[in-house]
Amino acid sequence: MKIGCPKEIKPQEFRVGMTPNAAQEAVARGHEVIIETGAGLGSGFDNDAYVAAGARIVDTAEEVFATADMIVKVKEPQAVERKMLREGQLLFTYLHLAPDPEQTHDLLASGCTAIAYETVTDSNGGLPLLAPMSEVAGRLAPQVGSWTLQKANGGRGVLVGGVPGVGPAKVVVIGGGVVGTHAAQVAAGMGADVTVLDRSLPRLRYLDDVFGGRFKNQYSTAGATAELIQSADMVIGAVLIPGAAAPKLITREQLSTMKPGAVLVDVAIDQGGCFETSKATTHADPIYEVDGIMHYCVANMPGAVARTSTIALGNATMPFMLALADKGWKQACQDNPHLLAGLNVHAGQLTYYAVGKALGIDVVSPAMVVKA
Ligand SMILES: NC(=O)c1ccc[n+]([C@@H]2O[C@H](COP(=O)([O-])OP(=O)(O)OC[C@H]3O[C@@H](n4cnc5c(N)ncnc54)[C@H](O)[C@@H]3O)[C@@H](O)[C@H]2O)c1
Repeated sequence: MKIGCPKEIKPQEFRVGMTPNAAQEAVARGHEVIIETGAGLGSGFDNDAYVAAGARIVDTAEEVFATADMIVKVKEPQAVERKMLREGQLLFTYLHLAPDPEQTHDLLASGCTAIAYETVTDSNGGLPLLAPMSEVAGRLAPQVGSWTLQKANGGRGVLVGGVPGVGPAKVVVIGGGVVGTHAAQVAAGMGADVTVLDRSLPRLRYLDDVFGGRFKNQYSTAGATAELIQSADMVIGAVLIPGAAAPKLITREQLSTMKPGAVLVDVAIDQGGCFETSKATTHADPIYEVDGIMHYCVANMPGAVARTSTIALGNATMPFMLALADKGWKQACQDNPHLLAGLNVHAGQLTYYAVGKALGIDVVSPAMVVKA
């Protein structure tokens, strides 16, 4: 198969869909890999790294789209890219179609087959191609929170780990899923006094079993949150209610009960945020203050560490990418129901129910499509 990887063109996107290592694995299996010049630079991979892996470099995205049987990307195709997709071509990337009718109609009109990273599943009920980005955002949260806590950035001037004779910062993590667990691990590793709140008892049991000695956990109620934030130096918002906007768990009124200069890091901002005073910010201008409390609300946190994020995403997508290349999308989806769960669009038909429901478009069963 000819596998093409264009340079990402969405503003502030520095990741790339294929690492040189992934390219090398594909080439070793007899596939041809075509990379747009400079596609990997934002993640620290130059053209030579891809050439050494056996890939071919081309000058333009047009050449990649015109030549490749499968396009591997990171972000949803932008309007100019969607015009280059063609019937029978396979697209493997993040799509997030439900809130995006324009993109959905363009993909349907193109006749391509599109498999969305975010809807591929695993046998534990997880989303294996979203998890790496939650891991990155979670581990980054205490890092950006501790920077925000510094005096020059508007924070309380508290060192997260403390020093001998001075206690550590108190960190409260609301939501103990993928983001929250990784955030708590790093905050505890920095020496903070960490408490994780979650509403799922099985999750709390898991956290207690695995991390019992390293951080505390508590059942999440409005009362428990109200009490804990009063003494917190940093609160990390990491809740998710699948398919719904994030619940607002700290109100504006409650900010006055917190210590001046305390920091809120709202990782759930991509779902609307879990603090009433959260509004999405960018890496260029990540923090702001409301009623004396610092807020960090960057909606694409993994972009700050593009190289780590690219490699983590590549590790997760590579087995699926190789299966698609080796077998073709139809056989690969027949063999793996979790990959089939990623099928969103095929030959002008929508194949993902939640997207159809959100956009009022008829849906064809993906199981029927792969059998046809
Ligand atoms: N800003 C970014 O760059 C970025 C990057 C990755 C993920 N995210 C977002 O981070 C959020 C968390 O993602 P995740 O992968 O950890 O999800 P997850 O499903 O693994 O975990 C969410 C957890 O929240 C818990 N929860 C739900 N309601 C709660 C409540 N009221 N109180 C306490 N806990 C509650 C759930 O029980 C679950 O354990 C999502 O909104 C995700 O989109 C943001």
